[in-house]
Amino acid sequence: MMSMSRSSIRYFVLLLVCLGVATLSADTPEENDARVAHARQVLRVFADALVAELKWALEHGGPADAVKVCHVVAPEIAKDLSDQYHWDIGRTSLRTRNPKNNPDAWERDVLNTFENRKREGESIAGLEYYEETKDSFRYMKAIPTKGLCLTCHGNNIPPEVQAKLDKYYPEDKATGFQVGDIRGAFTLIQRQ
Ligand code: HEC
Repeated sequence: MMSMSRSSIRYFVLLLVCLGVATLSADTPEENDARVAHARQVLRVFADALVAELKWALEHGGPADAVKVCHVVAPEIAKDLSDQYHWDIGRTSLRTRNPKNNPDAWERDVLNTFENRKREGESIAGLEYYEETKDSFRYMKAIPTKGLCLTCHGNNIPPEVQAKLDKYYPEDKATGFQVGDIRGAFTLIQRQ
């Protein structure tokens, strides 16, 4: 990944997207299992693409430039994937950077449950939740805070990064995180 250019990363992402399976509808428990497996697979593609873009940007432009990449590219990848799968795919958190990512009531409940489950000893990697309602299937998976994230979400944000954050995100609440915290969650909705 290190030697990939921006455009080849985008190609790689689209390729992964195209390898995915078609939209599923779930009426039986087996189909529901398949739907959960599919949600996990789509989010793995999303997570890999985000980390690839982030690493590329950090290596080539430095963290202040990478803020702009996150600002533009993260929503773009989410949209590419959402269009491809006809699912709404995004990221949310109890403390968001971009208010567009604020959780709705259902997502807030799930995020609070994730915090409780973590306090009771579950590992963040295993925190997921899904529910089928009358008109939709919803799935969430927790995102851990890693060392790589602290430049932009930690306690000692470099001044040139902070300046960019102030510019794009006047309502930023996504700082002060530590390794091992839940940074937020992927969230996915399939409307039936
Ligand atoms: C170069 C700076 C930078 C780094 C490093 C970074 N982020 Fe972010 N992060 C951002 C920006 C900018 C946004 C806002 C994106 C947007 O406008 O949707 C964001 C948004 C998010 C969101 C969406 C919820 C919100 O707060 O709006 C999550 C979740 C997230 N980041 C997780 C992570 C994780 C996990 C890592 C480490 C693997 C990480 N970030 C590393 C800059 C960064």
